Amino acid sequence: MSSTRIPASDVPPGSVTGSGDYAVGNNGEYFAVGRKCRHLRADLAEGSIDENGCLVCPWHQAAYDVKTGQMTRGPQGIFAKMPGLDSFYLALTKRWPLRRGRVTVDGDDLQVD
Ligand code: FES
Repeated sequence: MSSTRIPASDVPPGSVTGSGDYAVGNNGEYFAVGRKCRHLRADLAEGSIDENGCLVCPWHQAAYDVKTGQMTRGPQGIFAKMPGLDSFYLALTKRWPLRRGRVTVDGDDLQVD
C-alpha cells in the first residue's frame, strides 16, 4: 500500500479526516486506521472522537479503540436492541480488527504508511 501525506493542520486535536485508505485522527496522538466500519462500511474518516479517545462511526456510533482496531462498543440505535449483535461485532473485530497505519510527523505534514 502506498503512503500518503496530509498537512498536520488538517488534523487538529479531537478531529478525524481521510487520507487514502485510512481514517487519520488526533486523540492526543495521531493515529491511522482502515476507514471502512466493520458494521455497514460507513466512512470512519467522517467519524468523531469520544471522551475515551475512541473513534466513533458516523452512522450508528460504534466505537473503536484506535490502538488495537477493535470495536469497544457495537452499533447503537435500533442495532443496539438486537440480541447478540454487540458481542458479535466485538468478537469479530477482536479477530479482524481495523488495519492500523503508521503516522509520522515530518515537518508540517503527516506521512501515513
Ligand atoms: S456502519 Fe458503523 S456502526 Fe453502522
